[in-house]
Amino acid sequence: MKRIKTFPFSSWPSSTTTDEAKDCMQSLENGMLLSFPSLNFQITPEEQALFSSNLVKSNRKNISFDLTTDKMKGCEASQDIEPIIHKMIQRFAGLSVEFVENILPHYKEHLITGRTSFRPVEIKGRENPSYKKNDTLLHLDSFPSRPTKGKRLLRFFANVNPFEIPRIWKLGEPSKQVMKKFLPKVKSPILGSRSLMNRFGITKSYRILYDHYMLHIHDKMKQDTDYQKNAAQEIVEFAPHTCWMAFTDQVSHAVLSGQYVFEQSFYLPIDAQESPEKSPLVYMEKLLQKNLRT
Ligand code: SIN
Ligand code: FE
Repeated sequence: MKRIKTFPFSSWPSSTTTDEAKDCMQSLENGMLLSFPSLNFQITPEEQALFSSNLVKSNRKNISFDLTTDKMKGCEASQDIEPIIHKMIQRFAGLSVEFVENILPHYKEHLITGRTSFRPVEIKGRENPSYKKNDTLLHLDSFPSRPTKGKRLLRFFANVNPFEIPRIWKLGEPSKQVMKKFLPKVKSPILGSRSLMNRFGITKSYRILYDHYMLHIHDKMKQDTDYQKNAAQEIVEFAPHTCWMAFTDQVSHAVLSGQYVFEQSFYLPIDAQESPEKSPLVYMEKLLQKNLRT
């Protein structure tokens, strides 16, 4: 099956025909990755001169930004440099929200803007505190402290590498196969554990059963060295000065190398999908014959 669908959009925002918008939405819901090889997020020479992995605080992977509060976290820079980085991330967040809303008009009213990140650290050779945090291993996105409560995770990326270096990913097998393989290996949560995690702030909100199963599938995929080696996979290169997006809770992926990428996250309630039955939540409910929304 073809995994990537290419679109010719080249401006921020891009005008789309009704057919193109439908194609974007349906391709995403079918588990494809959308590639925009002509869409370049422009970096100014002043910004580019500051590019360095040292911009990130030593205990973090990325610099993160919240468009709704205008707060930036994880940046280690002097008082004259920090506002330049802040403005650059803010500009990326604003443009990418507008771009994504424009190509996905059907989602627009329902899309929740998540965090933005700037990733100036080279992936290859980067140290990870545990295998669970190692994104060079194939996984479906799911985060321990941030339950989505069934909402979809839609992420938009821009490679802004000034040295012509691509972002190299691997794409794994379709999520239905991943779930069939790993879901039977995940145990039900221990009674009361999800309430306790919520009460003590381990999770930012209550983990519904769906979040529990997604997170454990994520961990089990990364832990399984045979699977990492032998599962169907292909290498994909995202050239510098290009963008791409996917439902990363549905597209099995790993990042192998590259430096200087922006990312904008969105959450989408499954009822806003054209076909909610294509969501991981509904598919998992079918497999387990169980309501996972509690
Ligand atoms: C990931 O979502 O696993 C990381 C993607 C990237 O930083 O390129
Ligand atoms: Fe990921």
